[in-house]
Amino acid sequence: MANKTSTSSYQPGRNINDIQKLYGLQKVIKLASNENPLGPSKKAISAANKIVQSINRYPDSKSIDLKSAILKNISKRNISASNIIIGNGSNEILELVARKYLNNKSEVLFCKHSFLVYKIISNTMKAKIVESKPIKEKGKDFMGIDLVSMKSKITNKTKVIFIANPGNPTGTIVSIGEIEKFIKNISKKIIIVLDEAYYEYSSHYGFKSAVNLLGKYKNVVVTRSFSKIYALAGIRVGYGLASKDIISDFDKIRQPFNVNYIAQKMAVASLGDERYLEKSLRLNDAGMQFLKSELNKLGITYLNTYTNFITLYLGSKTQEIYEILLSEGVILRPLENYGLPDYLRVTIGTKEENNMFIRKLKKSLKVIK
Ligand SMILES: Cc1ncc(COP(=O)(O)O)c(C=O)c1O
Repeated sequence: MANKTSTSSYQPGRNINDIQKLYGLQKVIKLASNENPLGPSKKAISAANKIVQSINRYPDSKSIDLKSAILKNISKRNISASNIIIGNGSNEILELVARKYLNNKSEVLFCKHSFLVYKIISNTMKAKIVESKPIKEKGKDFMGIDLVSMKSKITNKTKVIFIANPGNPTGTIVSIGEIEKFIKNISKKIIIVLDEAYYEYSSHYGFKSAVNLLGKYKNVVVTRSFSKIYALAGIRVGYGLASKDIISDFDKIRQPFNVNYIAQKMAVASLGDERYLEKSLRLNDAGMQFLKSELNKLGITYLNTYTNFITLYLGSKTQEIYEILLSEGVILRPLENYGLPDYLRVTIGTKEENNMFIRKLKKSLKVIK
């Protein structure tokens, strides 16, 4: 029988057109891929329209303008352009880590229920996958990363550790203090990737970035994405921050024109649009509050999230509820292939989308009673 937690390829959220056709529905909403429902910043769209005229030219292979914009955005004295690599989505940076540091003799370590791409890229390099245990005590850290279990799994073959902070699909965080304690006490030869794809949301909820550790620990790689709060998932752009040596190694193995011009320009414009960022955070806050309060009323429990999604515990009714919601035009993310068959992940949408989700969820709960 196939192992449900192992996967040979990534399974993205179902798309709106397919579900419209399948169920003959006009209105379908997708709350499955942690995308920003506002759509990109107007400034980013206008930057894209402008650069389209010049698309006969190759893009800037070093993404110089985007690196400058990132430097301005993170404003840390000890970080310069030589500490940054831009990727075709942050997935590309994760893949560069695997290509550079993993092979069939190495071990890669991450927590059970981690972002599936870690498994996929490690499998490509034929590295042995080792999974640590999540926190099982009920409380605010339930299902988060247990760093004690993680440390106990390190061997002299461990070459890379992936930590998504916040995690996906859990949404939980590990404090930067705990991360630093962990890094301090393990071999400096191990590359530690701190994946901060949801950083802008989590920092809004009080989380401190691992960027502060970069000067001190040369084995740390921090990754960030423009696919989440900046709403550029479709154009593919993300970045990595690390020591000059690591970045220079990545630059040697990446494709010369890995980030297209439209992506570079849209990312620069997005970083310059603070009002858009604030609007997106406000929308997320309001949606988060509304959804949590409705879920509480329904007696549905969920993991403690610092992101733009909520992972709901629905137990033995999960699959049935997922299918009813789909047939009603609400696409959520089932988490069976993350080893979480009793959970569904919902991305926080617009006010209208959140209302529709709750309405349809209530309906589905009545149907299965
Ligand atoms: C934890 C985590 N890391 C990385 C990514 C990939 O982001 P990108 O679109 O920048 O490749 C995602 C996307 O869902 C994610 O959830």
